[in-house]
Amino acid sequence: MKPLHVLHVVGARPNFMKIAPILHAAQGSPGLRATLVHTGQHYDEKMARLFFEELAIPRPDVDLEVGSASHAQQTALILTRFEPVLLERRPDLVLVVGDVNSTLACSLCASKLGIPVAHVEAGLRSFDRTMPEEINRLVTDAVADLLFVSEPSGLANLKQEGVPEGKVHFVGNVMIDTLRAQLPRAKATGALRRNGLEPRGYALLTLHRPSNVDEPASLARVLGPILELCRQMPVLFPVHPRTRERLARSGLSAPGLRTVEPLGYLEFLGLLAEARLALTDSGGIQEETTVLGIPCITLRENTERPVTVTHGTNVLAGTDPARIRAAIAAALEAPPIVQEPPPMWDGHAAERIVEVLEGFRAAADRSETRGSPTSSR
Ligand code: UD1
Repeated sequence: MKPLHVLHVVGARPNFMKIAPILHAAQGSPGLRATLVHTGQHYDEKMARLFFEELAIPRPDVDLEVGSASHAQQTALILTRFEPVLLERRPDLVLVVGDVNSTLACSLCASKLGIPVAHVEAGLRSFDRTMPEEINRLVTDAVADLLFVSEPSGLANLKQEGVPEGKVHFVGNVMIDTLRAQLPRAKATGALRRNGLEPRGYALLTLHRPSNVDEPASLARVLGPILELCRQMPVLFPVHPRTRERLARSGLSAPGLRTVEPLGYLEFLGLLAEARLALTDSGGIQEETTVLGIPCITLRENTERPVTVTHGTNVLAGTDPARIRAAIAAALEAPPIVQEPPPMWDGHAAERIVEVLEGFRAAADRSETRGSPTSSR
């Protein structure tokens, strides 16, 4: 039997920690052959390159170098540059992760060429179509042939949308595979000492959602209660490039607010693991704090990852200053009780994905022998 040629796609920072365990698990399978394409949606040393090094992600076979642009321009550029790669390399399957523009563009491109698509982190829904990621999730799942689900809500959402059960595989969370594998290294980076912080003596803040940072008034609203928190403890704020300029223009600051450049994976995870509190609008950090048992206050009105609220330490505080203030006070007074991690967040999600891919190869092989198309569509 020929190995199944899987073309893996990464594009933006949150993709890198998801693809790493999948590529590593796939390397151990003689039935799979991997090609890695980086779209270049994120390209900075600190937003991309460092992650390849830290997580031992192989050098991409192809870099589309699309860079930053409007949604339409960026998506169009990925589509245009990805199509010839598919035509030349002819993979048996394209595997995409997460919900960024690269996820959407590459799955659309593959599906139009009749190449089956696997989506890792399928089924998550915020039910908020003003979020670009929600559109990316809906479209990607609509064209995907294999849908790898990370939490129970994903199964329920896909069922509700009528996705055939045979396409859906509940495998767990690959981001948590990376967390579990890297935590000892992350704790040994000396990040606290370098930043002059004491374990459980500081809060960690990240903000990059357009709805929070693009308008000065929205940024001031969410930052208000956090600037007050700075009187009680230092707040370390690695500033995403999207937020940097807007923050500087806003003039918002406080003596305890320590803004720093975006951090690498290991340094950030080391800091997150020892924080008293995390404040964030990121999706991944809600999941990571759930497993680490660190209180997380999410500065959004909704989450596509509800298991972090039901099984984890996540509190949806929204963007109203009074609610954020109350959530911070409550978390400092009585930290949430740490529960069992969500089902299958055990560090072995990538291995389960590889098993399904091997099964897909065997099924494709059987249908080829019978002379029918490989795709289930
Ligand atoms: C993207 C994803 C978002 C994800 C986030 C993680 C989409 C729609 N959004 O948002 O889901 O949570 O990544 O970071 O795919 N920039 C740099 N260096 C870089 C990359 C970007 O300076 O390496 C700057 C550019 O000025 C760019 C801005 O950051 O305009 C925003 O980048 P972009 O990729 O458009 O979206 P993110 O906000 O990063």
